[in-house]
Amino acid sequence: MNKSKIFVACDTTDIKKIKRIIKETRSSKIKVGYKFGLELLNSKNGRKFISNLKNKITFGDYKFADIPNTCSSAIKSVKDLNFNYITIHISSGLDALKATKKVSGKTKLIGVTILTSLDNEALRQIGFSKDVKKVVHQQAKLAHKAKLDAVVCSAREVKIVRKVFKKEIITPGIRLNSERDDQKRVLSPREAFKNGADWLVIGRDITKGNIKNNIQKLIKHLNK
Ligand code: C5P
Repeated sequence: MNKSKIFVACDTTDIKKIKRIIKETRSSKIKVGYKFGLELLNSKNGRKFISNLKNKITFGDYKFADIPNTCSSAIKSVKDLNFNYITIHISSGLDALKATKKVSGKTKLIGVTILTSLDNEALRQIGFSKDVKKVVHQQAKLAHKAKLDAVVCSAREVKIVRKVFKKEIITPGIRLNSERDDQKRVLSPREAFKNGADWLVIGRDITKGNIKNNIQKLIKHLNK
């Protein structure tokens, strides 16, 4: 059977902590990649650390959201970091997605749909009149049209996305327990894979507390 694939969100600027996360999440039972977000990517030491990282599956969660010229220039400017995956907000629009995909090279370009921290009420506040599921479905169609390599969505929308997007689906907003923190659209790892997610993104449920124990807990949960 294929191993479950997990991106561990390394949401800290503390390089020592990141090294510990990498060391303590090593496992023969699951396939692990590492996601670096805006916190580390914008920090003084973040770029240097990533440029020295070898033989890891890396995910630069830049979440670009800008005009076509700026998004495509931005992805070129981080090419030296050789990320396996980089994110762009699908709400940047079809032209920006296409322009960025054109220059993304070997890096897989992931389109981010509506953030997992938002619910229907939050969408209304921003000015959207459709509900989350409808918007995510529409965004997945755009990702397909722009020939993106992957889509990020909540695990609750995987089946909707799958109807129109056949490549990789990556789901954050994963919780092993009832603690949701700032996330709104959450599911358990097992439910997320059952819905058809290819990769899960898990941050705090792995990196908070005893990392080795958290990994064991996750593996046990997945094997239930
Ligand atoms: O700690 P937690 O598991 O909630 O972390 C989720 C990670 O996934 C964070 O790094 C966050 O930036 C990212 N993410 C998300 N929702 C999205 C896209 C990315 O939570 N739609």
